[in-house]
Amino acid sequence: MNQQRTTNNHLLVTGGAGFIGSNFVHYWLNEHPEDAVVVLDALTYAGNLDNLKELESNPNFHFSQGNITDRALVDRLLRDYQINTIAHFAAESHVDRSILAPDAFIQTNVIGTFTLLEAFRNYYPQLEGNGRFLHVSTDEVYGTLEPDDPPFRETTPYAPNSPYSASKAGSDHLVRAYYHTYELPTLITNCSNNYGPYHYPEKLIPLMCINILLGKPLPVYGDGQNVRDWLYVLDHCRALDTVIRKGKPGETYNIGGNNEVKNIDLVRMLCDLMDELAPSLPVSPAQELITFVKDRPGHDRRYAIDADKIKTELGWQPSVTVEEGLRQTVSWYLENRHWWEPLLSEEYQAYYQQVYQTSA
Ligand code: NAD
Ligand code: TYD
Repeated sequence: MNQQRTTNNHLLVTGGAGFIGSNFVHYWLNEHPEDAVVVLDALTYAGNLDNLKELESNPNFHFSQGNITDRALVDRLLRDYQINTIAHFAAESHVDRSILAPDAFIQTNVIGTFTLLEAFRNYYPQLEGNGRFLHVSTDEVYGTLEPDDPPFRETTPYAPNSPYSASKAGSDHLVRAYYHTYELPTLITNCSNNYGPYHYPEKLIPLMCINILLGKPLPVYGDGQNVRDWLYVLDHCRALDTVIRKGKPGETYNIGGNNEVKNIDLVRMLCDLMDELAPSLPVSPAQELITFVKDRPGHDRRYAIDADKIKTELGWQPSVTVEEGLRQTVSWYLENRHWWEPLLSEEYQAYYQQVYQTSA
């Protein structure tokens, strides 16, 4: 990669081997082929180099395996690649794992974000005002909504309910403080549930797609009436691009899909799509596999995003309906068995056994 400073952007993408990060890297190098992208990723259970395989020969792409808590490494990457934009995705991201073992969530989400901020604070003066630090966060920091409550706005008070959302809330507060205290050009985005290609099997949509293909039970927590606002990952990437280019430092932008769906309805949609698109299934109709299981502790009832600010101030709005996005996602899991099959590893089986008391 050309390490001379040019007029192009040099991005450091943390967590770029994960679900959203890898979609973002593909998106960015497609849309901005002259820019350079450096991925810093620890390759935890959720990181997967297969997600970035097609970029191996791209001279504007570089991968560094390492931890965001490694200050010396972050310093070196900022300097060596003359980074001017940090897009920070790296996190422990799964609520159920945060309930089982919260430690890693504090280390990565809080200490890791702090380390990146400190490195950026030290490095930023040489950018002469031309830097950006984008922190990708979640709507879960706002807590839970009743059925008739208005959706989350940027001004909604923080009320996180899981170790995961509490650790993300902590990181958001640090990012905010670094803007106010040190005048670093930080931007925070809080988005709703993403879905699409390269989504690790533990999350609701890929888990249901894979279990349908394997003829395994579809575990729906509690009464299945919990609501999530589904955002197609490519729409999210477009929103983040907009925020990096046009967002105002120090501001927060909520990003949502305008697609509120109850879990049970979403699972039924996935079953119907699989019945329609799969050449054959072990159990059909797939809805026969739906099984209600013990609820998640502290399970937030409803998330919904009011994305009016990013629409009116920056001109972004989602373009993919949940029907279109789910159809594309189901097709992707059908066509990419070679991607997800190796992920059903011994570690994954052990995790699955712990959460669901049965094998995956
Ligand atoms: P993911 O779990 O799929 O990927 C996380 C990536 O971060 C992995 O590649 C992992 O190897 C890497 N990573 C973890 N710890 C690290 C460390 N200490 N150092 C370096 N790399 C490390 O997560 P995702 O779903 O792609 O989420 C990306 C970001 O978006 C996260 O910050 C998450 O909180 C946020 N977010 C996700 C969703 C969603 O629906 N997936 C919704 C809202 C916000
Ligand atoms: P998930 O994909 O874990 O995202 P989040 O907890 O961050 O919203 O879960 C989405 C919803 O689906 C959430 O209400 C929990 C529910 N869920 C199930 O009912 N069964 C499952 O096996 C999983 C993983 C999630």
